Amino acid sequence: MTHLPQHPSEGTERERPLLAVARAARTLAAAGVEAPRAEAELLAAYVLDVPRGRLALTEGLDPGQRDRFDALVARRVAREPLQHLTGTAGFRHLEVAVGPGVFVPRPETELLAGWGVAQGRGQTVPLVVDLCSGSGAIALAVAQELPRARVVAVERSPAALAWLRRNAADRAAAGDTPIEVVAADVTDPQLLADLVGRVDVLLCNPPYVPRSVAVSPEVAGYDPDEAVFGGADGLDVIRPVVARAAELLRPGGVLGVEHDDTHGAAVPALLAADGRYERVEEHRDLVGRPRFATASRRADGQHAEPDAAWQTGSS
Ligand SMILES: C[S@@+](CC[C@H](N)C(=O)[O-])C[C@H]1O[C@@H](n2cnc3c(N)ncnc32)[C@H](O)[C@@H]1O
Repeated sequence: MTHLPQHPSEGTERERPLLAVARAARTLAAAGVEAPRAEAELLAAYVLDVPRGRLALTEGLDPGQRDRFDALVARRVAREPLQHLTGTAGFRHLEVAVGPGVFVPRPETELLAGWGVAQGRGQTVPLVVDLCSGSGAIALAVAQELPRARVVAVERSPAALAWLRRNAADRAAAGDTPIEVVAADVTDPQLLADLVGRVDVLLCNPPYVPRSVAVSPEVAGYDPDEAVFGGADGLDVIRPVVARAAELLRPGGVLGVEHDDTHGAAVPALLAADGRYERVEEHRDLVGRPRFATASRRADGQHAEPDAAWQTGSS
């Protein structure tokens, strides 16, 4: 059990919000949490049920709220992810529900989702597929931002599927275009057989961390193993997805696959080697790390250039 420093106003008085935040930020920093001030503010805002930007305008935490806040900080010190404590993760213009059994969507994946939205814009009813959908963050963002799209989300894990179905129902109830949820293994060579040759945009954030890589306590303790690790070289799911996507996409349809930052050459090389793709491109995130690769399905009968070159861009 972690003991927080004594409150300056132990008893019945309210603790001023910025004092509570400063106290918690010191505790989180000492525990090695990366962004202690921001996380302390988010937890205080959560307990006070106000937007983070309005924290300083509140009267502060009453004794019951202080106890809740301290309990949450103690769980964060034990490296439970912030999003598990608040029960939600922000993703583009959405909040999705997350918790045990589902991968917490990451900010860098918003780039892949945004790329997918841009690809679907201008098409009347784009057919968009999100493989390895987890909480549904990518699929639901696309459905919200492209309301005329047909969006199909595929996930295998029963625990993740429960979160995905819950988020899909919540977003549909909120007025977004409903998405279709399919329980399936994305490495199945017969995946989505009824969509062969018809998909306009195929997005995938698969498990891709090589098995030997050490991950943070939050990832090791709380993200499901099957959401994180992609076999010995991290490419166990990406390889079959690249192959099946070439069958699912229509000619000119596009694929975007997130990958490990050590795979900025390997994934574009897999796409180029397949022979059925053109316009293979690598995309970097805001800090310059290779983050996702994209390609377009050639028309059948078109032949790949041997050793087709691929480009690097930034998102
Ligand atoms: C990195 S998470 C991505 C989740 C979500 N798309 C996101 O970006 O937050 C990978 C997801 O793929 C799922 N998954 C792993 N292997 C799979 C497979 N063979 N078939 C279907 N889903 C799989 C995991 O359960 C997990 O939900």
